Amino acid sequence: MRTQVGIVGAGPAGLLLARLLEAQGIESVVLEARDRHYVEHRVRAGVLEHGCAETLREAGVGARMDAEGLTHDGTNLRFGLKTHRIDFAELTGRGVMVYGQQEVVKDLIAARVATGGELRFEVGDVALEGLESEQPVITYSRDGGRESVECDFVIGADGFHGISRGYLPDLTAYERNYPFAWLGILAEAPPSAAELIYARHANGFALHSMRSPTITRMYLQVAPDESLDEWPDERIWAELHTRLADDSGFVLTEGPLLSKGITPMRSFVASPMRHGRLYLAGDAAHIVPPTGAKGMNLAVADVRLLARALGGYYAAGREDLLAAYSDTASRRVWRSTHFSWWMTTNLHKSPDDDPFDEALALAQLNYVVTSRAMATALAENYTGLPYEHDWYYR
Ligand code: APR
Ligand code: PHB
Repeated sequence: MRTQVGIVGAGPAGLLLARLLEAQGIESVVLEARDRHYVEHRVRAGVLEHGCAETLREAGVGARMDAEGLTHDGTNLRFGLKTHRIDFAELTGRGVMVYGQQEVVKDLIAARVATGGELRFEVGDVALEGLESEQPVITYSRDGGRESVECDFVIGADGFHGISRGYLPDLTAYERNYPFAWLGILAEAPPSAAELIYARHANGFALHSMRSPTITRMYLQVAPDESLDEWPDERIWAELHTRLADDSGFVLTEGPLLSKGITPMRSFVASPMRHGRLYLAGDAAHIVPPTGAKGMNLAVADVRLLARALGGYYAAGREDLLAAYSDTASRRVWRSTHFSWWMTTNLHKSPDDDPFDEALALAQLNYVVTSRAMATALAENYTGLPYEHDWYYR
């Protein structure tokens, strides 16, 4: 089998790239290790930057997002029992869209299936060959046999635990492991506030988010080695009530838990994002801690660049955009890495209760809520810097 672009991984990065290429008449094959039901039901992030939502609309997959997603024009920072609203719309003229990543994935898969584009689930043992040649080959197992796809380019969009990154011989990894994790729950309960609440508390961080008018998504800072067995439902609710409390009568509505999970917190950046005809995109190349809600947004930003670079190659034989991809993408990756680290550091409790760290974090938070300049900096990073900035510095 032959195609133009072979894409490993059917997460937001791989699926959106296939869609953006299709719009330019470029053929691709998407290969996914898991089954369709699994990738459509994995509970992940839920905040789309203004430009990310716009990208999905332009790609023709924004209809359900616009009907069912929730537009938020601001967010809340809560510390010292006070709530401070950051008004994104007033500060930046933009907001964010709250819509689950697995819903984005469902919409992209439905669109791919509708146009008859190649999308293969449950492929095993994906291996890459000839990446330094002009005809790389992807091989994989399916239905008991070994199959292969010859391509012009291979895109590694197979997430943090994928195999693609391992094919970069000169990779430098920049990494930071945080001394805590997030316990995330999905509850069948109406959200207790109109917008998200990021809370810093002496017991640790808590986040109140949502998926719909009837589903609340919340997180608690826990130790990295903590087991879910130590967190029966009653303890989770008690801790959420404590950490999300404020002095103006905030009431948290409870409901049956639909899911519980613990996620480690890590920053990771791989450089470069390219070797020969292999290009990495999304979590395969970088991970941010979820406090800034940047993970899926970075994956989308990467594939926008790749779609444009591959479009330039096929339409006009341009190699310059492909050559610039890694450097261009890395600028936004590092901006988001800094923002996510900054949000994480200022909103979490350090496990050793270092009073110096605590005082610095509170000084930053107080600055954000009293200075329009600092609030604007938070708002523009959260709602997403314009994509054009990625190209400006070339
Ligand atoms: N072969 C084929 N597919 C693979 C392989 C492999 N060897 N390894 C992993 N995959 C698949 C995974 O099953 C997954 O469906 O690649 C896909 C990668 O998708 P994501 O992990 O969602 O990564 P990405 O598309 O880059 O999206 C980034 O995901 O983890 C969140 O917070 C992150 O929101 C961000 C988003
Ligand atoms: C979520 O709703 O899952 C969510 C929201 C904001 C974050 C992280 C996760 O910063």
